[in-house]
Amino acid sequence: MWTKENIPDQSGKIAIVTGANTGIGFETALALCEAGARVVIAGRDIEKVKQAVSEINNRGFKGVAEEGVIDLASLESVKAFAEAIKANYNKIDILINNAGVMIPPAGQTAEGYELQFGINFLGHFALTGRLYPLLKKHPGARVVTVSSGAHRFATNVDFENLKLEQSYDPYREYAISKLADLQFTIEFQRRLNSSGIDLLSAGAHPGVTETELSRHMPEADYQAALERFKTLMPAWQGALPTLFAATATEVKGGGYYGPDGEHELHGYPAPANISEAANDENQGTQLWAFAEKATGLKYPF
Ligand SMILES: NC(=O)c1ccc[n+]([C@@H]2O[C@H](COP(=O)([O-])OP(=O)(O)OC[C@H]3O[C@@H](n4cnc5c(N)ncnc54)[C@H](OP(=O)(O)O)[C@@H]3O)[C@@H](O)[C@H]2O)c1
Repeated sequence: MWTKENIPDQSGKIAIVTGANTGIGFETALALCEAGARVVIAGRDIEKVKQAVSEINNRGFKGVAEEGVIDLASLESVKAFAEAIKANYNKIDILINNAGVMIPPAGQTAEGYELQFGINFLGHFALTGRLYPLLKKHPGARVVTVSSGAHRFATNVDFENLKLEQSYDPYREYAISKLADLQFTIEFQRRLNSSGIDLLSAGAHPGVTETELSRHMPEADYQAALERFKTLMPAWQGALPTLFAATATEVKGGGYYGPDGEHELHGYPAPANISEAANDENQGTQLWAFAEKATGLKYPF
């Protein structure tokens, strides 16, 4: 049973966690600070970020939490955040692509992408690309991207509907965004491997965890989910697969980690099931080419 007590000492390490003002991201950041890391709490609302930072720093851990503002629904904001990081930090050891939205009302990012695809995947693709030169500067850095068991409900990214050209099905779009997260994680590792770069890309998912992610869920759907899942894990427990992927020595590049219980809904970190579509190299290549075009970014491998 791997818990946060197993996290190796993180003193001297610099981590960035997106969506760290609440939920799984907050617990991830808190545990990394407790283990000694300097952690950027990256959120879109400065007041919420300040509150999370002081909540963590008031605990008097070895590590320290610091503020960062990023709106993943805007590629300009992602760029500004990355520039600020480059100006203020000389390395990054851990980047955690955690922020996410689930089934919001139909909406689009600043660049016109469907919100879930835009925030959950495209914004993180851009962020990772912009920080990539800093990440690869020191061997052994890690990028952890938070996907979901829901990635299995999508069999491919529908490139014809990413700007809501057709219909909007909130659950379908969520599953597609999480499939894209996992395809990205694995494709990134393929590219790192072929370039011989010592940087690890891993995925994680938190099973079913009680957070604000359900904020857009109709009450009837929420009750039905509760009935199906029996119980939801507390956020500290949902953060464990992410923390495992970010710090455990046995983690493999391109690996994916989630709770070890039945259907990966509850439990403690263990290797998780990757769908065929998530592992599909053609799909990974196609997604990467699309994302490069959409963001105008080419990772300097
Ligand atoms: N909870 C679960 O059972 C579950 C299951 C599978 C996967 N996940 C994944 O776990 C990750 C964390 O979710 P959570 O459960 O902790 O949900 P949460 O409590 O709703 O936290 C989501 C975080 O993402 C931030 N965020 C949303 N849109 C953003 C944007 N445009 N720019 C920057 N930050 C943004 C939120 O900021 P605000 O507070 O300002 O809105 C919040 O900090 C997500 O990727 C989610 O898909 C969760």
